[in-house]
Formats: sequence, structure tokens, C-alpha cells
Amino acid sequence: MVGVIHSLKKEIARFRDVIYSRIYISPEAEKDIVKKFHRLYFDSHRFGKTWGDTFWLGAVTKKCPLDMWVYQEIIHELRPDVIVECGTALGGSALFMATICDLIGNGKIVTIDTKKTPNLPKHKRIKYLVGSSTSKEVLNQVKDMIKKRDKVMVILDSAHNRDHVFNELQLYNNLVTKGSYLIVEDTQLNGHPVYPKYGPGPMEALNDFLKVNNDFMIDKSKEKFYMTFNPRGYLKKVR
Ligand SMILES: C[S@@+](CC[C@H](N)C(=O)[O-])C[C@H]1O[C@@H](n2cnc3c(N)ncnc32)[C@H](O)[C@@H]1O
Repeated sequence: MVGVIHSLKKEIARFRDVIYSRIYISPEAEKDIVKKFHRLYFDSHRFGKTWGDTFWLGAVTKKCPLDMWVYQEIIHELRPDVIVECGTALGGSALFMATICDLIGNGKIVTIDTKKTPNLPKHKRIKYLVGSSTSKEVLNQVKDMIKKRDKVMVILDSAHNRDHVFNELQLYNNLVTKGSYLIVEDTQLNGHPVYPKYGPGPMEALNDFLKVNNDFMIDKSKEKFYMTFNPRGYLKKVR
């Protein structure tokens, strides 16, 4: 019976693809193509390509543009007052979000990094904090920048080892307001599907966090562009 339903579903998918003149690719082949492209895209940064060669208005941005487009959609839909970003690097992602906030006329970015990088992009909506995202001092500074009724979104994109991300999840999840997002970046590491030898990373932290916290659901609709650097990583606060 299960086999019959499976073949029926396949036939319906094939029929739909013919109707809409889309190339027919079986679900298995589709998964394989996406996985291979994902690995090609990710690994190419070693040769200074793809996410190693991505800029927003001249600022280096260590993101996949497909995810940046999803960020744009979330920011437009949600209109957050405060976006907390752990992991500034060269400020490209902060500048990108600040530009989107300019376009919608709302929001500020608080971005944290252990490194004090010179010549970060200057923007009236961006506040740079220097220190570890998991330190008490930094967390208190972040909290001081949030007003009582602010809508808050949080992005975890600093150190990617499991313990650090798990710690961040525990420290920052309470800042996220209901209906808003907690985005765990680079859940793709450790074979999900890239960099299989990375060791426990954001995906492992996320899975452990979801075992002890029921306030978030994984919003798979944000993975609609086939490839994301953040599989399972778009968490929507539902409680
Ligand atoms: C992946 S990069 C951030 C990329 C940036 N968000 C972007 O999309 O362009 C990670 C950054 O996290 C910083 N970092 C590492 N450990 C950290 C920590 N404990 N607290 C804050 N930042 C940290 C690193 O210095 C590095 O610049």
C-alpha cells in the first residue's frame, strides 16, 4: 500500500511538472543535485569564490545571497525594532540588514564580535559591540539597547562549535519576541551537508536546544530556495 501511494505521488509530481513545463526531476535526484551544488558552492570559497567573494555595497558579506534574500523577506514582514547579530566579521551582513531597515523605515542592528576590526561600514542604524557574545558584559549591553515593547530578532553567526552555539541559544533565546526569529547560521556544517569533518557544530547545538525548549518551531518555509546555509536554522518563536 505504501509503495502504491509513493508511486502515485511520483506520478502526480511528474504530471504537475509536465503541465507547468518544468523539467521533471525525481525527489531523490532533486535532493542529490541540491546537495552536490551546496557542496560545490560552499567548498569554492577556498578558491576565493562564492561566499568568499560576496559583497553588499562594497562590504564583505559571508553569506549565501539566497539566505540574504530570506533575511530581507523576514525583515520586511516582521519590521523588527532590534536585530541582534552575534558575529560581525567585516560588517557586510550588518550593513545589508541596516539598508533593508532604511528601506522599510524601521530597525537598528546590534552586532557583536570579539575582534575590533578597523574600517567597518558606518551606518546610523548599526551599533558595534566588541567582546564575546556569551560574556555577561556584552549580554548586558545588548539588553540595555532593547526597549520594553521592541520587536527583537536574533542571529547567531559567531563561533560555530556546538558548545558555544548552545550557550548562545540559551543566553539569547529569551530576547527574541513572540512571532519573531532566532536564526542559527551555518547549521550546514559537520556534514549537513558540507564540511563533514567539522565536528559538532550549530546543527548539533540546535537539536540539543530544541530538546529542552518548546518555544520555537523550525520554519521550513524559509528554506524555499532549495539551498540554505542554515538548514533547520530559521526558528520562529511561537510561545
Ligand atoms: C562567520 S563570521 C560572521 C559573518 C558575518 N555575520 C557575515 O555574514 O558577514 C564569524 C565571526 O564571529 C566572530 N566570533 C568568534 N567567536 C566569537 C564570540 N565568542 N563572540 C562574538 N564573536 C565571535 C569571529 O571573530 C568572526 O568575525
